[in-house]
Amino acid sequence: MFQIAPSILSANFAKLGEEITQVLDAGADIIHFDVMDNHYVPNLTIGPLVCEAIRPLTKAVIDVHLMVEPVDRIIPDFAKAGANIISFHPEASRHIDRTIGLIKEQGCKAGLVFNPATPLSYLDHVLDKLDLVLIMSVNPGFGGQSFIPEALNKLRLARERIDASGRNILLEIDGGVKVDNIAQIARAGADTFVAGSAIFGASKDSDPHRYDSVIAALRAELAKVAP
Ligand code: DX5
Ligand code: ZN
Repeated sequence: MFQIAPSILSANFAKLGEEITQVLDAGADIIHFDVMDNHYVPNLTIGPLVCEAIRPLTKAVIDVHLMVEPVDRIIPDFAKAGANIISFHPEASRHIDRTIGLIKEQGCKAGLVFNPATPLSYLDHVLDKLDLVLIMSVNPGFGGQSFIPEALNKLRLARERIDASGRNILLEIDGGVKVDNIAQIARAGADTFVAGSAIFGASKDSDPHRYDSVIAALRAELAKVAP
């Protein structure tokens, strides 16, 4: 099953609740929640208080992408704030296995995130504990960047590892996903698609249906790919 995960990084923060409701009404599956700390990445975004504030708006999965260092201290706060999936970058944790364990102990699903130059070998001894593998197709920190094509090769390799494991692990792609490349990305093995600027940048007006056409267009492209 293919899932579309709008990144609220590109939403209008002055109307965040409305934006989330509208994007879910338009057919999005998951809310992708980008957490940046101006330390691990050169940008600063939102934290557990915002997660807690949006939690009552929906039963949809909130997929928290931590771009923070260190990671462990903030994990329980996000679990309490209602996160369903918490993902982190291996470079940002001193003890990767312990961080995965901490996320699970808090009742959340655990994901590991791979920057464009981060090798998949980090999966070697922990894949059986993960619920999600997130391949970055841009360097983390900002929305609206261009898709790095090498991510397609990495997706194929990650897909092989996940299939060989026989486990139900989501393979998510994040960065530069658009209507014109989502089918190619799906063919490389992704099943969960983060899209920020492609969705929230689609229109700036206040039409409550303004996200319908872009999400329909993403789905139409995905429909061309055998699941
Ligand atoms: C980048 C974030 C992404 C970003 C994607 O560090 O992790 O989730 O919002 O934005 P687009 O889809 O515009 O590349
Ligand atoms: Zn992200």
